[in-house]
Amino acid sequence: MSSLYCVFGNPVAHSRSPDIHHAFASQKGDDVRYEKREAPLEDFSGALEAFRADGGLGANVTVPFKEQAFELCAAVTERANQAGAVNTLWWEGEQLNGDNTDGAGMVKDIRDNLGWQIQGKRVLVLGAGGAVRGVMGPLLAEKPTLVRVANRTAEKAQILARRFMDGSNSPVLGSGLEGLAGQFDVVINAISAGLHGEMPALPDGLLAEGAVAYDMVYGKEPTPFMRWAQQQGAAAVSDGLGMLVEQAAEAFEIWRGWRPETAAVMAMLR
Ligand code: ATR
Repeated sequence: MSSLYCVFGNPVAHSRSPDIHHAFASQKGDDVRYEKREAPLEDFSGALEAFRADGGLGANVTVPFKEQAFELCAAVTERANQAGAVNTLWWEGEQLNGDNTDGAGMVKDIRDNLGWQIQGKRVLVLGAGGAVRGVMGPLLAEKPTLVRVANRTAEKAQILARRFMDGSNSPVLGSGLEGLAGQFDVVINAISAGLHGEMPALPDGLLAEGAVAYDMVYGKEPTPFMRWAQQQGAAAVSDGLGMLVEQAAEAFEIWRGWRPETAAVMAMLR
């Protein structure tokens, strides 16, 4: 019988995760079945129980259930604890375990696939929602010179910055988008105004010479953020398709005990 996994979300119809995990599994003829499950907004835990009863071994979790999933876990990894959210679940006996592979996936894509350096660089993060909380720990572990978190609601950026400042070797500063100043080498966008949404107005001159720009979302076309960064003279830009595949590879390895190749899967999705 196939080993059963799924992704929970609401909505979830758009998810590429089944394609990705089936492509991983086929690399070694691993018999994996990976489904999309739309959990009701008010009953994520019920959906999880039903999945377990169907023989589910593990699951990915996407919007809006990552925080609820975190609360349901009996044990979580350090990076999930930092994020306060999990995107990967698995059972050991009856115990539900959780990890958050988003940050590791993003860093792996930026550092290893794109070959961009974070260490010693000035990083600007746009947004201060769940997506940012998920990646801050692994981002700071790369030892940037500083991380500035800028958000429409300044207070949220300040709270998030304080949360991650503890135990970080790099300064983490939170502020609003208005009056944002300084020069940055790596700019990461996590403002979820949608693929076709407008970029919020930002001042010119934020990108230092040779700066690179990474959008956590992906699409067929360059995102509004990528276009903005190009206009601002970015040396390189990328969307977040690689992050999607790399966070999946981390989850797959937890579940299946072997590391899938990602390059071919990224090419397939493009
Ligand atoms: P996600 O899981 O994608 O991070 P989220 O937790 O809802 O989703 O966070 C959405 C982020 O996008 C927030 O930083 C939000 O800014 P606020 O905290 O001020 O709400 C930001 N965002 C969404 N729409 C935006 C817009 N039109 N302009 C600027 N920021 C926006």
